[in-house]
Amino acid sequence: MYPFHQLHQFSLNRAILNFNTDEKVLWADLVHFSRELNFPSLQADAGAFINWMIPFLGKKLNIFEFGSGFGHSAFWYFACNKSSSIDQVHLTERREDLRAYFEKLNWPDQWKRKMLYHQGDGLVYLQQQSQKFDMALIDGQKSSYQQCLQILSEQMKPAGLVFIDNMFWKGQILEQSVARSTQALIDLHEWLLTQQDFEVLFLPVADGVSVLRKKAI
Ligand SMILES: C[S@@+](CC[C@H](N)C(=O)[O-])C[C@H]1O[C@@H](n2cnc3c(N)ncnc32)[C@H](O)[C@@H]1O
Repeated sequence: MYPFHQLHQFSLNRAILNFNTDEKVLWADLVHFSRELNFPSLQADAGAFINWMIPFLGKKLNIFEFGSGFGHSAFWYFACNKSSSIDQVHLTERREDLRAYFEKLNWPDQWKRKMLYHQGDGLVYLQQQSQKFDMALIDGQKSSYQQCLQILSEQMKPAGLVFIDNMFWKGQILEQSVARSTQALIDLHEWLLTQQDFEVLFLPVADGVSVLRKKAI
């Protein structure tokens, strides 16, 4: 038996094999900033999964992200030639200092012009949108995940996918006495079981990813 961290490292290596030269440089900068800031970016195996799913979602994709940091997760939407499938990516980040890191990165032009970086509360931004989304990633404050989903249930296109990160919350969901953020995720697991608007799949990838598909009406 191999320890999980060795298998995890193997999956990370697989994920980055297909990057082109510019993507490898950008990836190294993203990893560098994550280390410098001790920032909890989306793990590579979750990112690689989302990247792999992009072609199945069609063309001219309109993507919303709740909790974007400096763009690490957004890298996965575009990498490995997925850029042409994407129309717009709405990034939302409430921390003011991270925008400077986002701007410092050497994004390819055809990616950058599709990324709308909103510094501020992602839920407020989402509520102001009248457009519909093909895909969303929920990766902001854990206690706001459910509220984000409630808003998104009106704003996802039929068959649109929502990815929710940190659904294992490093295993804390199994502890006896839990913090508020952890309780919010436990409640969310329960709440998802009752949802009529979405078909739900939980994947034990990285820190746990739930995938929701908006039902056609
Ligand atoms: C786990 S990090 C995710 C980062 C990003 N998805 C990535 O992979 O690099 C969570 C981020 O969500 C941000 N956040 C938390 N609540 C938010 C909110 N209400 N609106 C916008 N951003 C929020 C935090 O400031 C933090 O930078």
